[in-house]
Amino acid sequence: VKKIAVLTSGGDSQGMNAALRAVVRSGLYYGLEVYGIQRGYQGLLENDITQMDLRSVGDIIQRGGTILRSARCEEFKTPEGQQKGADILNQHGIDGLVVIGGDGSYHGANKLSKLGIKTMGLPGTIDNDISFTDYTIGFDTAVSVVVDAVNKLRDTMSSHARSSVVEVMGRHCGDIALHAGLASGAETILVPEVEYNLDEVAARLRENFAKGKRHSIIIVAEGVGRGEDIVCDLKECHASIDARVTVLGHIQRGGAPTPFDRNLASRLGDFAVRSLINGESDKGCGIIKGELVLTDIDKVVNTKKEFDRDLYDLALRLSQ
Ligand code: F6P
Repeated sequence: VKKIAVLTSGGDSQGMNAALRAVVRSGLYYGLEVYGIQRGYQGLLENDITQMDLRSVGDIIQRGGTILRSARCEEFKTPEGQQKGADILNQHGIDGLVVIGGDGSYHGANKLSKLGIKTMGLPGTIDNDISFTDYTIGFDTAVSVVVDAVNKLRDTMSSHARSSVVEVMGRHCGDIALHAGLASGAETILVPEVEYNLDEVAARLRENFAKGKRHSIIIVAEGVGRGEDIVCDLKECHASIDARVTVLGHIQRGGAPTPFDRNLASRLGDFAVRSLINGESDKGCGIIKGELVLTDIDKVVNTKKEFDRDLYDLALRLSQ
């Protein structure tokens, strides 16, 4: 490859800028021309492409969001849209593309590779729902946002001997809930990967208060349902429980990326560029047990992320 482009697509995540910086600076270091595509596949179809230089990614490693901006693009899901995208890249002479995003973004990269563009996927999403990587870029920051919020909620919940139901993001994946739940000492963690029974949840809450606990934290992954509905159900069936809901929403997608996310993004961004130079294509970049790995995108998008049941059981054991 001689000319590569980079785009950020789908829901943004903290650390996308650090990944972008790594792609641009590594690309230039290895003698490539590097182009930035605005607003993901939408910007590609609108030919919104500019050349990047060292300074164009200065002062962004610490910033949340993405300076290239992001979008979800319906037109690119059609074969005509994908062909148009490949044609535009060919017109620029761009033969390699790094896509930073989640599942949908990986699908797009897979389609473009079948049309002759060499592609690499970088896992940029807070959800940690991409297979063949232990962590996605943004996940660690999102977890720390949730933990920070729970710390604050504990103060007020303790004063009133209340239960706090905290709804967190993650789409169909319970990882944000699990990791934030373990780190914040939540008594209950509801995730789509594990069935739950509301009577048991209520019994646990009552036991905890009887044991002398002054508050109780219930983390609910959005893939399970709405936190508000859990509070209503609890109130309906277990009138003695005084619960309040907090929906953290898009706060989880904002703020400065943690050092972990910046370093992960830097390593993966550089790895994507080196992999393109080595002739690899149609691969997702990931990190498994500290090692950088490449996996066929087809395999990545068709494999469900494994849920860490041991970690879940540990969180429950420790929160008694
Ligand atoms: O995939 C990231 C994510 O934040 C999910 O956790 C959430 O379900 C979704 O995006 C929200 O999407 P939007 O920003 O379009 O409301």
